[in-house]
Amino acid sequence: MENKIVVAGIGPGNEEFITPAALKKIRAAKFLVGGRRALSEFSTANQITCAITRDLDTPINFIRQKIQLGEVVVMVSGDPGYYSILDLLKKNFPPSMIEVIPSISAMQLAFAKIALSWHDATLLSFHGRQPARAALEYSAGKILGLLTDAEFNSATISKILLDCGWDKNSSVTICEKLSYPDERIFTTTLDAAANAEPVKHCILILR
Ligand SMILES: C[S@@+](CC[C@H](N)C(=O)[O-])C[C@H]1O[C@@H](n2cnc3c(N)ncnc32)[C@H](O)[C@@H]1O
Repeated sequence: MENKIVVAGIGPGNEEFITPAALKKIRAAKFLVGGRRALSEFSTANQITCAITRDLDTPINFIRQKIQLGEVVVMVSGDPGYYSILDLLKKNFPPSMIEVIPSISAMQLAFAKIALSWHDATLLSFHGRQPARAALEYSAGKILGLLTDAEFNSATISKILLDCGWDKNSSVTICEKLSYPDERIFTTTLDAAANAEPVKHCILILR
C-alpha cells in the first residue's frame, strides 16, 4: 500500500482550535512539513522536518523523497480546502496519495467572533490574487468576507471597494491575529479604513 501525504489543518493559530484528529497525526508523524511558526509549535526533536517558505520546490522535493519511507504530514493554517498548499500537492501527487484532515478556517472564526452567519456571504481572497471586479461590486444586503495580504491590506482593499460602489459609511470589521493572545477585532467605516494605517494579514467583513 502506498504511503499517504496527510494534509492536516491546524486552525487559525491557537492550539485550542486544532482538532484531536489533526493533533494525533502531527504527534505521530516521522516526517513533518509546515510553516516555521507551526513547526516551532508542534514539532519534536525526533521528527524530520521541512519548512514551507517562498521556495515551494523544497517541501515538494522533501515529500517526494520521504514518502518512499513512510507517511508525511503537512500542516497548513486554517482549513486545507481553503487557499492552502493542497492545490500544489495535487499537481505533484495523485489524489489517491492525499488524505485531508479539515479544520477551522480563519474566515469561519472571524464570522463566529461577530456572531454573523456566513451562509449568505460572498467569500473572496486578496491573498496573492485579486478577485474579479464584478464579485466585489456593491448590492443591497451583500456581505463580503475577504482574505488579505501585505499588498492588498485593509486600506488598499477599502479603496477598491469604494470604487466598486460601496458607501463610505459601510461597516467594515477588521479581524487580526484571530485566536492569538493579541487578537484584535474592531469595526469602522470603509472611508476610515481606507485612510487609516493598513492592517496586513487579516479578515475583512463588509456589510
Ligand atoms: C493563504 S490564506 C490561508 C487561509 C487558511 N487556509 C484558512 O482556512 O484560514 C492566508 C490568509 O488567511 C488569513 N488568516 C489566516 N490566519 C489568520 C488569523 N489567525 N487571523 C486573521 N487572518 C488570518 C489572512 O488574510 C492571511 O493572509
